[in-house]
Amino acid sequence: MTTESAPLHPRAFRVTVVWTLGLLFLGSVVHATESSLACPDWPTCFGTMVPEMTGGVFWEHLHRLVAGGLVLMFGLATWLARQEAPDRPWIFKACLAGLGLLVIQSIFGGLTVIYRLPDLVSTTHLTLAFAFLTLASVLAAATSRGGGPVEGLHESMGMRLRALAGFAWLLVFLQSVVGGLVRHTDAGMACPDVPLCLGQVVPPLVNLPITAHFAHRVVALVATGAVLWLAVAAHRRGVPGRIRRWVVAAVALVLVQVALGVASVLTVLAVVPVSLHTLVAAALLAVLAATATLATRPEATSGAPATSNASDAVLA
Ligand code: HEM
Ligand code: HEM
Repeated sequence: MTTESAPLHPRAFRVTVVWTLGLLFLGSVVHATESSLACPDWPTCFGTMVPEMTGGVFWEHLHRLVAGGLVLMFGLATWLARQEAPDRPWIFKACLAGLGLLVIQSIFGGLTVIYRLPDLVSTTHLTLAFAFLTLASVLAAATSRGGGPVEGLHESMGMRLRALAGFAWLLVFLQSVVGGLVRHTDAGMACPDVPLCLGQVVPPLVNLPITAHFAHRVVALVATGAVLWLAVAAHRRGVPGRIRRWVVAAVALVLVQVALGVASVLTVLAVVPVSLHTLVAAALLAVLAATATLATRPEATSGAPATSNASDAVLA
């Protein structure tokens, strides 16, 4: 009797997603606690890899260490995928792209320090973090439960869900980039009141901070609408429970996210709400990416057997 051990790469991808969420949260705390330049040099901190972990150095250096751990973790996931899934080469290619992203991301992290936090570099650092998280989420969802079809999911239902989840993902991604700009151009309090902005429904768009902040609120409404639209479509079409759970999570996350945005303004950008605001945005993106990916795995409808290669379409 042969005993085949369960593949480890799907679990390694899931750990990568959770690790990345933790790292994103830490990065946001680094900024919110004004610890971004606590280590004045890079890649060392005060010339050493083991500085005294006090004050801002604690957050900044911890962020760097956890980033190093992520590179190792994802490197291991890549190696496992290469060994365990030679029949699905796209997974390995996607992993290589992810490793490339992590290297670029780490360089951008260093550039934020060396060039003392230019707005565009900091915003790019956030954008790349969300891009990597999306890739890791796609890999985790595509390889879950052997990568086979989702029971009860039909072709047309899958296509519709994928389009709606992909659209919602795109809007949340754009909204997050605008959010990063709001944060790094110090526009967080450009509208100090909520739900109005400077006492008006549409404020005078006289400068970049007010325009960026107001745009962030408008896109928040559109992105929330897109997630709700996805939920209504999923409910009407009676999607299988495995996908429904992710859609319900997306609805809960988007509502919490709006509440955290409001709390960020009302608390004048207190550390806890603004850091959670980054974390929940990231979790929402991950959930929408997973939903869109699972939706690319319908059951075979034409009598042909469903193959695990259905998910290959994700990155095709
Ligand atoms: C050794 C490599 C890295 C260094 C030196 C570094 C450094 C930094 C610094 C200094 C900040 C604060 C930026 C600011 O205040 O504008 C920051 C924030 C952040 N980092 Fe990193 N980082 C590194 C790797 C990573 C990686 C690999 C990720 C994720 C995949 C990541 C995700 C983030 C996020 C999401 C933020 C918050 C950005 C924001 O609030 O807009 N970092 N990082
Ligand atoms: C779908 C809804 C939303 C998403 C996905 C979202 C996402 C984000 C992201 C990713 C950031 C950048 C965080 C960082 O750089 O670490 C941000 C910043 C911010 N968001 Fe949102 N946001 C949403 C809704 C809102 C709402 C409704 C408000 C206020 C009414 C709001 C207020 C803010 C503020 C004030 C900042 C800047 C925080 C700072 O300066 O530290 N957001 N948002």
